[in-house]
Amino acid sequence: MMNRVLVTGGAGFIGSNFVRYLLNADSGVHVVNLDALTYAGSLENLRDLPVDRHAFIKGDICDRDLVNDLLRRHRIDTIVHFAAESHVDRSILSPEPFIRTNVIGTFTLLEAARQYWLVEEALPIADIRFHHVSTDEVYGSLNPDEPAFSETTPYAPNSPYAASKASSDHLARSYHHTYHLPVTISNCSNNYGPRQFPEKLIPLVVLNALEGRPLPVYGDGQQIRDWLFVDDHCEAIHQILVRGVSGQTYNIGGNNQPANLTIVETICDLLDELRPGARTHRELIKFVTDRPGHDRRYAMNIAKIRNELGWQPRYSLKDGLFATVQWILANPEWLAAIQMQNDYQAWLTENYATREKAK
Ligand code: NAD
Ligand code: TYD
Repeated sequence: MMNRVLVTGGAGFIGSNFVRYLLNADSGVHVVNLDALTYAGSLENLRDLPVDRHAFIKGDICDRDLVNDLLRRHRIDTIVHFAAESHVDRSILSPEPFIRTNVIGTFTLLEAARQYWLVEEALPIADIRFHHVSTDEVYGSLNPDEPAFSETTPYAPNSPYAASKASSDHLARSYHHTYHLPVTISNCSNNYGPRQFPEKLIPLVVLNALEGRPLPVYGDGQQIRDWLFVDDHCEAIHQILVRGVSGQTYNIGGNNQPANLTIVETICDLLDELRPGARTHRELIKFVTDRPGHDRRYAMNIAKIRNELGWQPRYSLKDGLFATVQWILANPEWLAAIQMQNDYQAWLTENYATREKAK
């Protein structure tokens, strides 16, 4: 029973891809998209969405009056909560916004939903859903021989980002346990794909390579992430909304676990093919000071979502990276909007200066 969906953070990377996915997948759905348009959100990500089925609202998830008003005015029956501060490096330099948005913001949404759906309207549980989008980083870091994270792995968040997401997961879980709010939670591995802000590894490397700038590889470049193409993540969330069981957590991952350096080299090789120059892009690779507290390895066990909901990733890493690079090259308006954004240039300078200083 998903008709009127509030998507938070829907102008960001995964949120904007999800809004597109959902509107295509289900012609009966209307989306209200609440996003504060921080540095990570852009109206450019919402280009060409159907105006009759998608309403964008600029606002803060911590603003309880606004959230209350949206739930009632649009008679929202489903919340899909993406809005967050999402970058580990920023959380190390400046953790406060992470606590505000990720913890207080999630609490504000849960409390507003409880009040409206359960207390005021007493809606049937089967007609409502709060889906909370989270990360594999809540589980901490794996040694090389440890098994992949499952839904029962104890939480051990290492960065302020991961700790803020872990806090929000606990709040979401408690609202199901205490108030019977129909909550589902998904913990997903590293995403990549169209519309990702180029502070994260893959788009940063593509843009730096296109602009002839160094490609910063932290530490020895042997850290491991479990990469998932964003469309696969959107499909998994849709499956959880349609068929997932309230109160359950689902791990989502890509079954793709190369070292960071391999990712960077693969992108260089792709660009050598698509944008050949006098020199190979690999010459731009530069090893820089490592991230403090850098998690060494993430890997997701996706048996639960595969067995119970029949979901598994469709994209291989090779196909996903190719699609991502192609998309960036084919969307110069998006690229120009990002490049003009003050925060993008400022971040590149600040992040790089911090690493140079730490050497
Ligand atoms: P993003 O940084 O690209 O987008 C976040 C969006 O939230 C932006 O549009 C921003 O404007 C908005 N936002 C931030 N603070 C807000 C506030 N107070 N009120 C309203 N809107 C606000 O993030 P993303 O990569 O798309 O991640 C989306 C969600 O998925 C996050 O919850 C993140 O923790 C989770 N996640 C991300 C990844 C990944 O690899 N990117 C992996 C697993 C889980
Ligand atoms: P990132 O994309 O920031 O995601 P997360 O920290 O959530 O995993 O980083 C992915 C990996 O790439 C991580 O191990 C850090 C590393 N990294 C670099 O080596 N260089 C970079 O410039 C960035 C942004 C990340």
